[in-house]
This record gives sequence, C-alpha cells and structure tokens, in this order.
Amino acid sequence: MEELTPETWRRLLRRPPACADVPLYGPLLAADAFALGRLAQSLDGYIALPDGRSQWISGPEDIAHTHRVRALSDAVVVGAGTVRADDPQLTTRLCEGPSPVRVVLDPGLSLSPTHRVFDGTVPTLVVAAETAPATARIGAAEVLRIPGTRNALDLAALRAALRARGLRRLFVEGGGKTVARFLAAGVLDRLHVTVAPMLMGGGIPAFPLPPIDSLGEAPRYAWAVHPIGRDILLDIALGPG
Ligand SMILES: NC(=O)c1ccc[n+]([C@@H]2O[C@H](COP(=O)([O-])OP(=O)(O)OC[C@H]3O[C@@H](n4cnc5c(N)ncnc54)[C@H](OP(=O)(O)O)[C@@H]3O)[C@@H](O)[C@H]2O)c1
Repeated sequence: MEELTPETWRRLLRRPPACADVPLYGPLLAADAFALGRLAQSLDGYIALPDGRSQWISGPEDIAHTHRVRALSDAVVVGAGTVRADDPQLTTRLCEGPSPVRVVLDPGLSLSPTHRVFDGTVPTLVVAAETAPATARIGAAEVLRIPGTRNALDLAALRAALRARGLRRLFVEGGGKTVARFLAAGVLDRLHVTVAPMLMGGGIPAFPLPPIDSLGEAPRYAWAVHPIGRDILLDIALGPG
C-alpha cells in the first residue's frame, strides 16, 4: 500500500480533487457517493472463530486502514451480530479525521442498550424493520425504520434513507452476513477484502451467499492488490453486471 505521510493524509481529508492520485483512497474520494464493503478473512475464507472471536485476523496496518476509511466516510454500517460479538465503538481513533455516524442493522431491535455503539458519543442510528417493536431509541441511538421484512431489510431503501440524511459515503464494515446481503442486493460499489496468511479451519464465513449451480454463474471481478503489512488488501470495484 502507498506510504501515507501526514501531509498526504491531510490532503486526503480535504477530499477531491487533490486526492485522486492516491491509489487505495483516491477512488473513494473521487466518488460523490459510495457503499464500500469491508472484511478481513483468513486464507480459507473465515472472518471469525465459530464462537465469534475475530480479534485479530489482519494486522495493525489493516486496522489502521479501517480507521482511515471511517474518517473518509459519512456513516459506518454493521450488523447486529458484530455488535453482539465485538461490542465495537466504530469511531476514528487511529488516525486524524472525524468519526462517521454509526448505523447498526438490528431488524428486530434485539440489542441491549448497554453496547458501546449506543453510548451517545457519536450520532448513531439503529435500523429496524417497520414491523419491529415501537421503540424510538436504543440507548442514545435513534431508531430508523425502513421497508422490508425482519429477515431481509430493503437495503436500497436504507441507502436512500441515509442519503436523505446527507449520509452518502457508506462504509459497510461487517460482519459477513451484512456485507453479503449488501452484495447480493446490488447496493455495494466496492469491496476491500484483506486476506491474512493464516488458516482457521472453520468459523464464520466471509460471504455467506446462496450456492450456485455452475461455475459459469459465479461473478468474477478485477481487483487491485495492495500489500498491507503482512496481509494483502484486494480492492474490487463492483461494476454493473
Ligand atoms: N473479520 C472481519 O472483517 C469482521 C468484521 C466484522 C465482524 N466480524 C465478526 O463477524 C461476526 C459477525 O458476523 P455475522 O455475519 O455473524 O453477523 P453480522 O453481519 O454482523 O450481523 C448479522 C445480523 O445483522 C442483521 N442484518 C444484517 N443485514 C441485514 C439485512 N439485510 N436484513 C435483515 N437483517 C440484517 C441481522 O440481525 P438479526 O440477527 O437480529 O436478525 C443479522 O443476523 C462476529 O464474530 C464478528 O466478530 C469480523
């Protein structure tokens, strides 16, 4: 990955057009809006152990990278499974820059208000199905109801609802089910997949998607490969078709 000097990073934070020449971050900032999915996985395609532990699969350089992308995003999106397993803060702490709005997909409003994402330190939305219990807040977070079912929130409607609130740059930070559902719904523009040179033998899969009948049906992508510490980061632009 390109070396980021403090000056380069400050230039990135000022956003385009000054940043278009930085390979990993330039495409994000050149876009008026984006939804970027991100996962760190083992060589054999797992993002966590069977019991949900995932800290850490990728190295410190990749963790710093996720903080940089947070700083460049308007909102960071995670599924309820990640909040239950990791109790993350989802703030920008390892680089300069603002923390994005936190968006948690919790269709049945089942999460405890004691999780750190609900602590009110950063504006936070909990996304629920329209059929979820009539609750206006979880902790300090506002509940946002969108169309869809308890098992399948309408992610295009979510993107539109976030856009209406001025949240155009979305960082979908996990876990596997959440990123896979954004991918399957065709509402992701880009993927950053970091592959760590390790084998886990089992666990929570990176992309739990429905099986295909023949290899010809498998979507294939072009990627740019960035070494990042001991890992590699695959940057995939998800074009139409
Ligand atoms: N290695 C990495 O990069 C990485 C990153 C993040 C997390 N993780 C790990 O991944 C694990 C969690 O991943 P996961 O795949 O099990 O869960 P997840 O994606 O974090 O959350 C899945 C849950 O979020 C809700 N959800 C997400 N999208 C939805 C949609 N379109 N419609 C309806 N509900 C939706 C559902 O909640 P309900 O359950 O309420 O239905 C669903 O079960 C944890 O162990 C965490 O440590 C790893």
